[in-house]
Amino acid sequence: MHSPTLVLTLLSTAVLAHPGGGPRHKNHFLAPKGEVKCDLVFDARLDVATTLQDFDSYGTSYFNPDYVKGNNIKWSEIIKFPNVTTPARFDDVEAHKPFEVTISDASIFQQQRGFRRAGLQFQGDTNSGSPGSTGVKTIHFSVKWDAQRALNLSHEYLNVWHEAGDYSSNQFNFQTGKIIGQNGLASDTWKVLNRRNQQIWSTPILRNDWQNFAITLDFNKNTLRVYYSKGDEPLKSVTNAVSNDNSGQGQYQIGILKKPTGTNDVVNSGYQSRNLNEGLIYGSLFVEDSANGCISL
Ligand SMILES: *[C@@H]1O[C@H](CO)[C@@H](O)[C@H](O)[C@H]1NC(C)=O
Ligand SMILES: *[C@@H]1O[C@H](CO)[C@@H](O)[C@H](O)[C@H]1NC(C)=O
Repeated sequence: MHSPTLVLTLLSTAVLAHPGGGPRHKNHFLAPKGEVKCDLVFDARLDVATTLQDFDSYGTSYFNPDYVKGNNIKWSEIIKFPNVTTPARFDDVEAHKPFEVTISDASIFQQQRGFRRAGLQFQGDTNSGSPGSTGVKTIHFSVKWDAQRALNLSHEYLNVWHEAGDYSSNQFNFQTGKIIGQNGLASDTWKVLNRRNQQIWSTPILRNDWQNFAITLDFNKNTLRVYYSKGDEPLKSVTNAVSNDNSGQGQYQIGILKKPTGTNDVVNSGYQSRNLNEGLIYGSLFVEDSANGCISL
């Protein structure tokens, strides 16, 4: 268990030190389209100087280097730097760069043979007592489809979520593909599901544009609110602050968790294609403090 002091130390490392080093944000014509207006709790807009190896150790990674990934594969083998020329909405092309999370046949975590998974956790986002799980927080992320490593939408994917501290449920899921047991939902969409795994909003997957999302979790009022835009357009609120059980603390996770087909025991069994080579590109990844209604659009 991390002590509060350690949490703060890790936090300041993650937010202030920019472990990758390199050029800082410059306020000129290449500044990002979207301005971050609120205090940052976790900032994983990667510095342009970040290397793949930086993902493998605590001193240099923005994330937890040990979780949640295949037992015999390192983050430096999982992450790729995509050839994307347009920056995501809150990224400065001179200061930040996007990254791609991939899964392969080696993406088996512990004994979970049903899943293929590679999920990043922000460094400092402890399972208990994290600043990401109190007050009002907004997680921002932009995603971009990679046709070379397309997801197979006949399967169910979790891409961004907040898992409760006892690992028994997720406060919300940002997902794609065919949701097991919910045949009424379209496969070819990004969707946000609430704590009870009910879809509260969805939008078609675009193949050539960034898609930008923000999800505000109010841990005091137990609500969830979704914001969305495409390309470099400003985010717009696409739901009300809907009632949601945000209790139970826990951690954010960002990446890919692919469920198998043809089983009732998705963790341990079921079908997964061989020679898997799938990925999803992420940019503009950060968590901001939305106390007093602050939100970057
Ligand atoms: C980017 O392009 C280079 C050169 O074509 C290629 O080797 C590399 O694999 C590409 N990166 C990704 C993540 O696709
Ligand atoms: C997609 O998944 C389905 C179900 O597992 C499988 O039958 C199919 O072969 C997969 N398609 C590709 C292109 O891997």
